[in-house]
Amino acid sequence: MTDLIPALDALRALHPPQQPVYDDPAAVDAVVGQLRQLPPLVFAGECDDLKARLAEAAEGRGFVLQGGDCAETFDAVTAASIQRRLRVLLSMGVVLTYAAEVPVIKIGRIAGQFAKPRSKASEVRDGVTLPAYRGDAVNGFEFTPAARRPDPNRLLRAYYASAATLNLVRAFTKGGFADLHRMHSWNADFVRHAHVSARYEQLTGEIDRALAFMRTIGVDGGEAYRTVDFWASHEALLIDYEHALTRIDSRTTLPYNVGGHLLWIGERTRQVGGAHAELLRRLRNPLGVKVGPGADPDDIVRLADVLDPDHEPGRLTLIARMGAARIREALPPIVRAVEATGRKVVWVCDPMHGNTFEAANGYKTRSFADVTAELDGFFDVHAELGTWPGGVHFELTGDDVTECVGGAVDVSEADLESRYETVCDPRLNRQQSLELAFMVADRLSQLDHPRSRAVADVM
Ligand code: PEP
Ligand code: CO
Repeated sequence: MTDLIPALDALRALHPPQQPVYDDPAAVDAVVGQLRQLPPLVFAGECDDLKARLAEAAEGRGFVLQGGDCAETFDAVTAASIQRRLRVLLSMGVVLTYAAEVPVIKIGRIAGQFAKPRSKASEVRDGVTLPAYRGDAVNGFEFTPAARRPDPNRLLRAYYASAATLNLVRAFTKGGFADLHRMHSWNADFVRHAHVSARYEQLTGEIDRALAFMRTIGVDGGEAYRTVDFWASHEALLIDYEHALTRIDSRTTLPYNVGGHLLWIGERTRQVGGAHAELLRRLRNPLGVKVGPGADPDDIVRLADVLDPDHEPGRLTLIARMGAARIREALPPIVRAVEATGRKVVWVCDPMHGNTFEAANGYKTRSFADVTAELDGFFDVHAELGTWPGGVHFELTGDDVTECVGGAVDVSEADLESRYETVCDPRLNRQQSLELAFMVADRLSQLDHPRSRAVADVM
C-alpha cells in the first residue's frame, strides 16, 4: 500500500467507533486480503462524473435524489426486489425533474448499504442479551447467538451481493427499462391512491405528448430518453471493508474507493481525526456527511476543512437530519458557518433519521407528516438564507410495506404489524415515496431558479 492510503493497522489503532468485535482476528485479515484482490465495483472515472454533477447541484443547477433501504439484506438481492427499488426511484426522479427544471442526480442507497451503526451494542429480549444486529455485512438479523456472532466472511458476501445488485442496476438503467416511453408501465400497477395516481397519470401523459412532439419535428433524444445515470452510495462504516476497496486509480495514481460512487460518514462516526474521516479524506470520491441537530457549526467547518481542504466543487454533500422540530433552529447556523468558508457544498435534507419514534405497539416508525414538515423547514431555511436546497435523502422501498405512518393511503399505528419488514429503520413504501416526490416537486417548482433569475436579470 502506498503513502496515499493510511495503513489499515493505523486506522484500527484509532479505535473507530461502531466496528464489530470479531472473535478471530486472523480470519478478518484473511478476508480483507481476499477483498483486496477482487475487482472494482465502480470505476474512478464514474466517481469523477458524479462529482461533476454534484458540483452543479452545489451551484443550484442540479438536485440530488438519494434513497433506498436503511439496511439492504442479502435476501433482497433478487431481480424483483432490485427492480422495484429502482422503479420507485426512477419514478420519483421523473416527477422531480419535471418540476425542478434542473437535472436530478439519482443516487441509490444501494449495492453496498449492508452495515449499520447502532445506538446500543447489544439487544435484550426476554432477559437474553445478544450482540445488536449490525447489518448483513456483519451478522444475522435472527435473534440467536449463532446468527448474531459477527462473521468476517459476511464481508465477502456483502461484496458479491453489491456486485450482483450493481450489475442488474446497470442493466436496468442502460438496457431499456429506464426508457421514458415506458414510464406508464413502471407504475401502472401500484399507484393506488386516486390523487397521487391522477397526478402521476397527468405527468406521464404530458411527457408522452412532449416525446411525440419531439418525434414529429424530427428530434430524437437518443440515449437521454432511453438510459438513466444512476449512482451507488452507502455509509462507509466498516473500516476493514472500505479500506480493502480503496485502490489507486491507474489514470490519476490517486486513491478511490471502488465499492460505491459516493460514500458518506454517519452522524456517529464523523469525528475529526477519527478513522472514518482519516480514510475518507484520502479518497477522490465525492463524500457525504450526516449532520444531526446537536452538531456544532465549528465542528462541521473543521470536518469540511479536513474532507475538502481545496474547496473542490462537488466534493462535499452535507446531509442534514435534524428532525421536524429542530431543523428551523439547528440548520441555519450550520449553513451560515459553512457558506462563510467560501466553499460550495450540496445541502441535502434527510427527513427520516431525526423523526423516528416508537409507536404505542412497540414498532419503530416515522410519521409522514413529520417527514414533510422537516422538508418544509429545509426549503424555508434555504429560502431565508438565499442558499440552494440541493437535494433529498430518503429511506424507502419499492414494496407496499407498512413501516411509516400516514400518507395519502393512511397507514395507522395498528397497520404497522401487517407488513413491517425492515431489519433496521422504517422505510417509506412506494405510495408514500411517490407522494413525497410530488410534495418536493411542488416546493421545487416554487423556487427562484438560477436560470429564471438569469432570465429575470436581462428583462
Ligand atoms: C442511516 O442513514 O441509516 C443512518 C444511520 O443515519 P445517521 O448516521 O444520520 O443516523
Ligand atoms: Co436508517
